[in-house]
Amino acid sequence: MSDLIIQKAAEILRKNDLGTYTVPTHGLYPFQWNWDSCLTALGQAYIDEKRAWIEIDTLLAHQWEDGMVPHIIFHKEDDGYFPGPEIWGTNRPTPTSGITQPPVAGFAVQRLFERASDVQNAEAKARHLLPKIHKWHKWFYQNRDPENVGLAAIIHPWETGRDNSIDWDAPFENVPTDGVVPFQRRDVQHANPEHRPTEAQYQRYIWLVQHFRALGWDNTKLHEASPFKIVDPGFNAILLRSIRAIADLAQTLGETEIARESTAMLDRGIGALETLWSEKHGQYLCFDRNSGKAIEKRSIGGLIALFAPIPAPRAAALAQTITALSERTNFLVASHDPMDAEFDAKRYWRGPVWLIVNYMIADGLINAGNTALAARIEADSLRLIEESGFAEYYDPFSGEPCGGEQFTWTAAMVIEFLSKEKDVA
Ligand code: DGY
Repeated sequence: MSDLIIQKAAEILRKNDLGTYTVPTHGLYPFQWNWDSCLTALGQAYIDEKRAWIEIDTLLAHQWEDGMVPHIIFHKEDDGYFPGPEIWGTNRPTPTSGITQPPVAGFAVQRLFERASDVQNAEAKARHLLPKIHKWHKWFYQNRDPENVGLAAIIHPWETGRDNSIDWDAPFENVPTDGVVPFQRRDVQHANPEHRPTEAQYQRYIWLVQHFRALGWDNTKLHEASPFKIVDPGFNAILLRSIRAIADLAQTLGETEIARESTAMLDRGIGALETLWSEKHGQYLCFDRNSGKAIEKRSIGGLIALFAPIPAPRAAALAQTITALSERTNFLVASHDPMDAEFDAKRYWRGPVWLIVNYMIADGLINAGNTALAARIEADSLRLIEESGFAEYYDPFSGEPCGGEQFTWTAAMVIEFLSKEKDVA
């Protein structure tokens, strides 16, 4: 059975592979996305190791001079997606968006390196990518942490990947919509509009893009000028996990300066993450830098923190919170707790289950020694695939497939889950 599923997942990876990068799915997302590519490479590595390295290499080839790695690379023209390069106006040789995404590249590179059978190629690739990823990590603290607290803020919901999370509802009241140039959304032509963000949210997404564009995409100005700046524990956890990966890899490769700087960033970041902990909710919470207040919502952002090397008592408390959540849904891990009134089982990041998040949480639980809960999350993930195919995300009650179909990173995660099982067997 598992061989057949791996075969189907591999077919999806091949179908969405455009040679040097992979689209998340044809139609809805026809370009290269940053964290999609990095997580995709993990699945690709089981099929074609060289190709997996190319996926990350292509992404990093489009790093900005200041160190940022953009969230979309528009390798070719395609008017089936909005907002395209003309809306971003970033003036890059190959057009890119002007914001970033969860920096999972460091983690992915370490995983590829550790598993490599072509050790020579892996070492050459890792040596090439190491300074680039390190520069990106430093970029976060240089540009998104002006008060030097050790936590990086996001300035657009698309940066977290959790586009329409309930976390952003209150901060979005601070984002105006006047002056937004009329536009036509394309996403709702490819996917069920009831699974996607609302019109009101899109108005604000685009207002922010226009605002940053008017500032010339100058990253030294954007954080200060943004009416939306949030410290997301999940985003910071991904950053910290990647920083640790780069610290370890740099040590192995004899890059002592990168190892030293990464270790210092990691220690500060882990300490600072502690300020986002909520005893009341048994999880980390987002913090709104404009209002100066925590966002009291039980979103998955606070659970993804497991992916970082957090203190053992925090990992144990998060495991308890996830176990309690499992009693309120049929499939782990819902992207929002159904106890909150704003929960929506099918609408993108307001409730549905995402396999990439399941993967990161399960990985964190394994590192914390909780293999039983990790196994439960992996089993739920595979049940979703068997019942509903390789969807973008799933209803946590019915398991129904939502959003795009034939989804690359969902397929990649399935290969990861199943191949890992085989490695152990
Ligand atoms: C989208 O277009 O839905 C993406 O999430 C933005 O990156």
